[in-house]
Amino acid sequence: MPSVQLWASLPSELHPPFYQYLAWLQARSVRVFDEKYWHALLPHRLEAPLQVHWLWERLRGQSTDVAVYASWGIQTQALPFAPLPFSLQVDVGIFGTGRHPTTQMCLVALQSLQLQGKWLLDIGTGSGILAAVGLTQGAKVVATDISFRVAQQAFRNLNSVKKAGWAVVVCDLASCLSKTFDVVVCNISAEALMRLLPDLSRIMPKGFLVASGWMASEWRSLHRALRSFGLKLTSWQFLNGWMGIVVAR
Ligand SMILES: C[S@@+](CC[C@H](N)C(=O)[O-])C[C@H]1O[C@@H](n2cnc3c(N)ncnc32)[C@H](O)[C@@H]1O
Repeated sequence: MPSVQLWASLPSELHPPFYQYLAWLQARSVRVFDEKYWHALLPHRLEAPLQVHWLWERLRGQSTDVAVYASWGIQTQALPFAPLPFSLQVDVGIFGTGRHPTTQMCLVALQSLQLQGKWLLDIGTGSGILAAVGLTQGAKVVATDISFRVAQQAFRNLNSVKKAGWAVVVCDLASCLSKTFDVVVCNISAEALMRLLPDLSRIMPKGFLVASGWMASEWRSLHRALRSFGLKLTSWQFLNGWMGIVVAR
């Protein structure tokens, strides 16, 4: 079982308490570089995302200049900041500039999957950012959003990335679709994900679900729900309180 990789950036006055917290969490191979960045390995346990969340909350209570990233089951080299190979228009009130931790974790997860020639469904597409990354990785893409205005923006953005091989649909989750997909990505709330799970075997009989959009404190109930629908965790990430996962069926 691989270890959890932990990355943190924090001001020097927080180094002593951080070191103590790491000891409590049985961290090993602890390294500091450039006097600001930390890397450590944590044992993998079911509750590891909750432990990282605990660590982040302790640090956040003492400074706002803190970033904590953890990943398990996915190769990462640093705190994520996935650069985009295209530019997007993102109007006020539309989600999907790429800067939010939940989007960043979905981008990292999508880049870890083989998407060439696969069918990708992006639920809650916002600006279309995740669908656009899927297109650049060679997937055929369907993107849904519940808002017509948002779907229009996604349409314009996808059209500027590629002229064919995709569709945008106004729809509640995936309820209007009858096609099946190899990979489903959704950056939506825990409540919406819970509503999607009973429908997932219909739209993705076999494949990977990439999901984010909830705080790590909700992990226990989400993990129970994923297991009850026969989904197996293959990787997870934590970034500043938020969580992202990849599960397989
Ligand atoms: C957090 S944003 C994610 C945007 C983009 N995918 C990203 O990762 O940056 C969630 C999006 O889901 C859409 N949404 C919310 N509820 C939905 C539902 N029930 N069905 C489809 N889309 C939904 C919202 O309009 C919003 O654009």
